Amino acid sequence: MYPDGVSVGIIDQRKLPFAFETVKLRTTDDACHAIREMLVRGAGCIGAVAAHGMFLAAQEAAEAENFDAAFQQKGGQLCKTRPTAMNLAWAVERSIAAVSAASDAAGKVERAREVAIEVADEDAEWCRKIGEHGRSLIETISREKGEKEPVNILTHCNAGWLAFVDYGSATAPIYAAHDAGIPVHVWVDETRPRNQGARLTAWELDQHGVPHTVIVDNVGGHLMQHGMVDMVITGTDRTTHTGDVANKIGTYLKALAARDNEIPFHVALPSSTFDWETEDGVKDIPIEQRDGIEVAWIGGEKDGEEVEVKLVSGDSPVENYAFDVTPARLVTSLITERGVCEASAQGISALFPEKFGES
Ligand code: MRU
Repeated sequence: MYPDGVSVGIIDQRKLPFAFETVKLRTTDDACHAIREMLVRGAGCIGAVAAHGMFLAAQEAAEAENFDAAFQQKGGQLCKTRPTAMNLAWAVERSIAAVSAASDAAGKVERAREVAIEVADEDAEWCRKIGEHGRSLIETISREKGEKEPVNILTHCNAGWLAFVDYGSATAPIYAAHDAGIPVHVWVDETRPRNQGARLTAWELDQHGVPHTVIVDNVGGHLMQHGMVDMVITGTDRTTHTGDVANKIGTYLKALAARDNEIPFHVALPSSTFDWETEDGVKDIPIEQRDGIEVAWIGGEKDGEEVEVKLVSGDSPVENYAFDVTPARLVTSLITERGVCEASAQGISALFPEKFGES
């Protein structure tokens, strides 16, 4: 939230790691554009921006004849921007529910503002706790390796603090372990087509002083076969209450390679990323398909200038599936703010009984 109290500031992640620029969001349309065009991205960050977008929506709805109808319509507009991202719908619904309890427009705007701040603060705290729980998994491997050798952790895409409000999900245990003096080394998948690993995760780890190496997406299996990966930790954009994990495209292949090589494959997530309704993630999680331009072109920096280069010649068709789903059976455990559990309805319900109608 900007000091003006009415607009919202974000980091334009499209510019990283070559430039650090912030952008001011003033309207619901601005927030939709920021999420759709990926100025902001990543589960928790999308949720936090959506909640703040609902604060902007509330200010606009206060000018409309029917506040609630206008507010809900703007919520629907936000939800359509990234179909796979669970935190988006979760934040919008939370804002609508809270705002409906206030009686007048001023009260509703104030409630939307409070919810936006709550969502952001909660996200940071949950990721901090994920870091604590996940750190012990790294510590155990470190002890088994004799504490001098670094624990080699492979990660995919960016589930770091940029993808959240702070700490990140997959990176939180890594930062916590590194800060506690446990030697770690991270294999960073570049993560085509948008290269969130090469551009964002590597930048984050570098800023924090965590040893890391960027690899192309196809290297992981080879490293695993040669004993160079001790564990995989990824984030997720949506995980069903049965444990199926939607994450950046390519995650499923890493999980298959990890299983073949008996390497633990952990997924870190705050509870805001759980889909409490969907049973079968592979069949029923909507997979976002993005513009083929992201596949046919690649962006980077040359001589201090941002450049885009075409990779695909002629009129060859391209497809751009943004996510895939890793079935629960390939996931060793889920690391949540309440602790570590098996990726199954049984495991998840032990940590979140209230979501399964248990007390
Ligand atoms: O398309 P993105 O960049 O919004 O995708 C989200 C991701 O960064 C990853 O899938 C991530 O591993 C999970 S979100 C923390």
